[in-house]
Amino acid sequence: MVLRMLLLLLLLGLQAAAIFSPTVDAKGHGYRVVAANKLQPKAVCSALRVIPPSSRTWLPLYHRNGPCSATPPPHSARTTPTSILSRDQFRAEAIQRRLSNKATVATTLGTALGLGTLEYVVAVGLGTPPVRQTVLIDTGSDLSWVQCRPCHLPGCHRQRDALFDPSKSSTYSPLPCGSPACARLAAQNGCSRSSNRCRYIVRYGDGSNTTGTYSSDTLTVTPSDVVASFRFGCSHADTGFPDADRTDGLLGLGGDAQSLMSQAGQRAFSYCLPPTVSHTGFFTLGVPNVSSARFAVTPLYRSAQSATFYFVILQAITVAGRRLAVPPSVFSAGAIMDSGTIITRLPPPAYAALRAAFTAEMIKMYPPAPAAGILDTCFNLTGVRNVRVPRVALVFDGGVAVELHPTGIIQYGCLAFASSRGNRSAGIIGNVQQRTLEVLYDVAGGAVGFRRGAC
Ligand SMILES: *[C@@H]1O[C@H](CO)[C@@H](O)[C@H](O)[C@H]1NC(C)=O
Ligand SMILES: *[C@@H]1O[C@H](CO)[C@@H](O)[C@H](O)[C@H]1NC(C)=O
Ligand SMILES: *[C@@H]1O[C@H](CO)[C@@H](O)[C@H](O)[C@H]1NC(C)=O
Ligand SMILES: *[C@@H]1O[C@H](CO)[C@@H](O)[C@H](O)[C@H]1NC(C)=O
Repeated sequence: MVLRMLLLLLLLGLQAAAIFSPTVDAKGHGYRVVAANKLQPKAVCSALRVIPPSSRTWLPLYHRNGPCSATPPPHSARTTPTSILSRDQFRAEAIQRRLSNKATVATTLGTALGLGTLEYVVAVGLGTPPVRQTVLIDTGSDLSWVQCRPCHLPGCHRQRDALFDPSKSSTYSPLPCGSPACARLAAQNGCSRSSNRCRYIVRYGDGSNTTGTYSSDTLTVTPSDVVASFRFGCSHADTGFPDADRTDGLLGLGGDAQSLMSQAGQRAFSYCLPPTVSHTGFFTLGVPNVSSARFAVTPLYRSAQSATFYFVILQAITVAGRRLAVPPSVFSAGAIMDSGTIITRLPPPAYAALRAAFTAEMIKMYPPAPAAGILDTCFNLTGVRNVRVPRVALVFDGGVAVELHPTGIIQYGCLAFASSRGNRSAGIIGNVQQRTLEVLYDVAGGAVGFRRGAC
């Protein structure tokens, strides 16, 4: 409710904003034809298809289970679509619970989302001299952490890089109990009185947790993006990581005080998630030094219920160039931009209209197939060499139309969208739909930007 009022107020301020017409397909081509094998990951890693502008510093970004990851899990340990999609449902429900339950506001750290669906990793440098640490990126949580020496199995998990050793970094310091940063942690975090060290605990919604010393050290994101005295958790015990997962920790990109966003000088970041798990994407800090006209920009909203999440507002959806008959008011609860949720969740009336329009196009060409987990609109693409994928564009607040890449529309032969539980719950823009787009979170500037064909 508070969120909706906030959104309304902000919307009133937008009346003067330029309105662009959505991308209606001028030539009448309602489809993109993609080779079926382009929708599938390969066994080998493909480099970036498009190199980010040379005026920017960026980090390569990979899917943790793909061949670009230095330690992809063995084939037997790879997860099936059904288990991936059920964990995704778990995350979406955890987000929606967190937004509807005001009681959790004060204990944000205690109710972080699950780790299970996080998929994309980057390698940053921690300490002086910098030590490489491979971390999951997460826009749905705030506190960053890595495993620190000592961290013994099985109380910790196996990781790909050397354990971060605080005693070898000249800039490391544990935060004392009385420090303001320690006081800002939620109540169940605390103090180790014997050592006067701040203790942090994050319990994730899926039962995973991490605990250790809340600390500060130099974080080197890229050689030109160095955050001095970066506050993070030095984990001495954690549970819930799949054994095959060798990542060292997590980089929290949410909007709350503990996040990298609140600590970095430039309060903006962007990433491009690659088209398949076998491609490379990128991550950057700061507002890109490229003509902003290349980004389609929509306002970024925040919610009174949770400082963590970044919201955008959808106005419409087009399928094959035609706008769905869904009034904009259906989208008024907003949608969370999330790097960790896989499948986009739409309000039920919007999903129903999308499913109907998409099916009407697909059924002319392909026979239906059984549902796959939460994906209920599937087609039998067996033996199809070139798949004709109806164009789908999301039209955001301000009339900004963002056409999705075919790999952001079809997953496992199914329409890669799902319905939220209720009309009034916030939607979620998931990471499948974000593929190949550079998504800019300009937190300081109050905007989210999308640049097509970025990776
Ligand atoms: C973390 O989870 C494990 C296993 O569920 C549990 O034994 C442990 O007490 C938890 N730690 C904290 C700090 O909550
Ligand atoms: C932005 O790019 C232009 C042209 O590439 C360059 O001259 C300028 O120094 C850059 N600005 C920053 C802040 O990097
Ligand atoms: C898909 O079509 C192929 C032949 O075109 C058929 O053999 C197969 O059983 C179908 N699969 C499903 C799930 O209907
Ligand atoms: C959700 O919205 C649709 C269309 O706006 C309406 O027909 C439906 O009754 C609503 N469902 C609930 C549970 O309010």
